[in-house]
Amino acid sequence: MARRPLVAGNWKMNGLTASVGELERIIAGARSLAQSATKVDVVVCPPATLIAGFAKAASGTAVTIGGQDCHPLASGAHTGDVAAEMLRDAGARAVIVGHSERRRDHGETDALIRAKALAARRAGLMAIVCIGETRDERDGGQTRHVVAGQLDGSLPETDPDAAANIVVAYEPVWAIGSGLTPMPGDIGEVHDFIRARLCVRFGETGHDVRILYGGSVKPANAKALLAVENVDGALVGGASLDAAEFLAIAGIYR
Ligand code: PGA
Repeated sequence: MARRPLVAGNWKMNGLTASVGELERIIAGARSLAQSATKVDVVVCPPATLIAGFAKAASGTAVTIGGQDCHPLASGAHTGDVAAEMLRDAGARAVIVGHSERRRDHGETDALIRAKALAARRAGLMAIVCIGETRDERDGGQTRHVVAGQLDGSLPETDPDAAANIVVAYEPVWAIGSGLTPMPGDIGEVHDFIRARLCVRFGETGHDVRILYGGSVKPANAKALLAVENVDGALVGGASLDAAEFLAIAGIYR
């Protein structure tokens, strides 16, 4: 089965209700992309406050709305948290879990991220599970070790059915928001490694799991990055806040 490319925008803590205009420009661009030969899935993950409004604006269009995090439980006494079921109820169809900023700012562990990915599955959301090494870990030759540990610890289980709603995003921490990216060859090595590991874990289904690259993806470098084997799309931060830039990245698949 050919993997359909996916380009997801992570708006992080940016955006107000007035930003719906940017979303509308993304929707208009995605409509024309949807008519091109290679279909690409386009996801926008705004902050939680915008999900319901964005989902309404994107309803029936080629753009899917996602959350940036969820709690493992469906409800309860967890002030400030949002359940996967609530995201789904607000119109989201995807959720990012285990982003390095959450691992860093909130001390999220692999075990917690796995619980969140399971919650996403329970709620019928696609889980975009983020993994990636720090600069020190890369310099210390630890990239594979770190990526393997995060992958094994953060993915739901060995059940191949669980792979169906999983997307892996490889985001080297040092590449996020820095303007730096690994060389395409280095990205390819890590993505091949992740693919092999997914196949050990999920069997043949491991071939169907999309592996996104994330970290300073821009229109200027997207073509080279997205051409790498086993790179099935991108998780885009900064450049996703601008419709023209985001569409230029997704448009690589036109
Ligand atoms: P960036 O962020 O594109 O701004 O580097 C990527 C991410 O954190 O998902």
